[in-house]
Amino acid sequence: MKNIDSIGHVTGRSLYLDDLPTIQGTLFGVVFDSPKAHGKIKSADYSKAEDFPGVVRILTSKDIPGENQIGGIIPDEPLFADGEVHFMGQPIAFILADTETIAYKAKKLIEMEIEELPVITDPREARAKDQLIFPPRTFQVGDPESVFDSCDYVIEGEADNEGQEHLYIETQGAYSVPMENGHVRISSSTQGPTAVQRTAARVLGVPMHKVEVDVIRLGGGFGGKEDQATPWGVMTALAAQLTKRPVKLAMHRMDDMRMTGKRHPYRSDFKIGLSKDLKILAYEATFHQNAGAAADLSPAVMERTLFHATNSYFIPNVKATAYSCRTNLPPNTAFRGFGGPQGMFVIESAIAKAAEEIGVKPREIQKANLLNDGDEMPYGQIMDQCLAKNSWDSLESSFDIKKLEAEVEAFNSENSDFKKGIAIQPICFGISFTNTMMNNARALVHVYSDGSVGVSTGAVEMGQGVNTKMVQVAADAFSIDPSRVKLETTNTTRVANTSPSAASATSDLNGKALQIACNKILDRLKEVAVKKLGVDASTIELKDEKVISAGTESDLDWKSLIQEAFVSRVSLTENGHYSTPIIHFDKSKEKGHPFAYHVYGAAILTVTIDCIRGRYDFDSVKLVHDFGKSMNLPVDHGQIEGGLVQGIGWMTMEELLYDKEGKLMSNALSTYKIPDIYSVPKEIAIKHLETEGHEAAIQKSKAVGEPPLMYGLGAYFAIQNAVKAFNPDYQLKFHAPFTPEKVLMGLYEKVGEVVPD
Ligand code: MTE
Ligand code: HPA
Ligand code: MOS
Repeated sequence: MKNIDSIGHVTGRSLYLDDLPTIQGTLFGVVFDSPKAHGKIKSADYSKAEDFPGVVRILTSKDIPGENQIGGIIPDEPLFADGEVHFMGQPIAFILADTETIAYKAKKLIEMEIEELPVITDPREARAKDQLIFPPRTFQVGDPESVFDSCDYVIEGEADNEGQEHLYIETQGAYSVPMENGHVRISSSTQGPTAVQRTAARVLGVPMHKVEVDVIRLGGGFGGKEDQATPWGVMTALAAQLTKRPVKLAMHRMDDMRMTGKRHPYRSDFKIGLSKDLKILAYEATFHQNAGAAADLSPAVMERTLFHATNSYFIPNVKATAYSCRTNLPPNTAFRGFGGPQGMFVIESAIAKAAEEIGVKPREIQKANLLNDGDEMPYGQIMDQCLAKNSWDSLESSFDIKKLEAEVEAFNSENSDFKKGIAIQPICFGISFTNTMMNNARALVHVYSDGSVGVSTGAVEMGQGVNTKMVQVAADAFSIDPSRVKLETTNTTRVANTSPSAASATSDLNGKALQIACNKILDRLKEVAVKKLGVDASTIELKDEKVISAGTESDLDWKSLIQEAFVSRVSLTENGHYSTPIIHFDKSKEKGHPFAYHVYGAAILTVTIDCIRGRYDFDSVKLVHDFGKSMNLPVDHGQIEGGLVQGIGWMTMEELLYDKEGKLMSNALSTYKIPDIYSVPKEIAIKHLETEGHEAAIQKSKAVGEPPLMYGLGAYFAIQNAVKAFNPDYQLKFHAPFTPEKVLMGLYEKVGEVVPD
């Protein structure tokens, strides 16, 4: 089935927040944010700005009737800074004016004196100064320390990664309308409508039932709107409550880039021990997560780093410790992979370094250590239906790795100005929110008396195709044409207490809830048919809009059956609730079974570098992916391609830089480059790992949103492989992204030379 949004998107008819018709009397909001990364607010003078014609009001922390608090996991973040500022871009005030232009002009008239305090941007420095957001956590199995002594090879090193800007095409925004009796209706571009509702209620000092949140769709979220869409929804709601006028905020790109958090940079140490036959016997990793100035989702992101610290490998002795370090950057947040990629980059770096020192190919170590059924992960889950080896084997048989390597070698021996590099990247990604409690969802189904169907779920469409999949689920459950099914907006009054659309689990959770709701209606419809036709209940089925009784088509079709149910006063509305079975996790022991299942795959990446200029092009990415039994291949292929390219971008050209004062230097599209059509791999070949799929996945179609991003990790190692082919003196370094500048320096690095990183 085609993506239901495809025509709307390409013709520009799909509606986003900024397309909502403007209601007369609407005020436009602009955020006044901190110009300093750390300091005390000594004085603030809003009078000139307030007096500017067209300015209606300026809100600060003093105007908040409820709590000045937006922290979702740890209450450590004010909506508006009060007394102190902790990052450049931190909201201090909200200017409301008749037009946005006026609000921007007024912004320049605000006078503020800030006494500067020391700025920390580096997580290692933060740890040294005891600036932790919460206590460190350790996942351990076996005892690596006692095993290193008996290893044939022990290799240590560091592996660092920088952040990543989400760069959703639609920037953050919200539009709030005051309703009667203190009720406010927020249209928000959020992945988490309930988070916006809950936080707005807290800040406004009203019960949650006074706040309604509605989401049409997002022009991309990528994790950046899992909870960082909340402040804007709350600010506009507060402003609507106080002014009794509709209030809209649609952020400008540079404001968005400056004020919002990103993927977490990490600074990590590793130590890996191997036997002669390349078995990894012991692994230690210490992660320093750059959390930014407040917790945001960092505790959950850090947890997933620990869960994925060993990627697709079985290692009997592991100790992984992570520190969440407080710095003066905007609070970093969810980003596709949610800490997993950061953990996986470190083990892949350890393997690359070990391979170099031992004198083997990284793939030999990778292959020798792939997970098997029955293996215990450091967090206690015993692997079953494990497809790590199957993916690898399928990759070898489908794409002939040795032949590709031979081609790279042949090219390199014939060319001196260009070199090719190759890397293999296996992935293993756990599906479920790591916080067990969040793994539930609901759906509300109305069958209208004409046989058309309205479906509401907690799922937010952000381009990943979840609405298309929900239409499929409902249409398949009733065996009706998909054109009869309409996906409603995501609204907190129809589906309440939702988890955000995240963790790649949106289709699984909401789809299963939807199936439950549909099946309840279906059971009632069958009863109606049995009564009407006077046949045996066990032989009734609905197929292709027909009622089939004992294998033969009856006179009843979908529409007449619905009509019959309606006149018989049978309810045509149902609610479904689903919560993932089996999963659990005990934080006091750091052991459990947190994931419903894992998604596997493996990719071969080849790159050509220009040894004069340092630039590079990816020739091809060939991969085998575990879709389970895909319910929508075109949608799933879109996720593979998008995720892969986003991962390659993070590892290569996307360079997020803050200066020592905590100022974002790559603060616009002119300085922050994401992959465009010219920089994507020339060829992306996707092979399906044929399996039956997993029961916990919707229609056995496994989650596909995040896992493919991690194929992109291989981009770093492919480039490194090519640099080494040109310059044998190059010393392996692990600090992503591998920008063209870094490639150039690596190409001409000499033995013993210290190259700035
Ligand atoms: N694909 C598009 N086009 N746009 C997005 O914002 N977000 C990703 C992924 N794919 C995203 C996307 C992220 S971070 C997640 S968690 C999943 O989609 C969320 O949707 P799912 O749970 O339905 O896979
Ligand atoms: N993944 C993505 N988002 C989340 C998670 C998770 O495991 N937990 C909380 N938010
Ligand atoms: Mo995705 S990072 O779980 O929104």
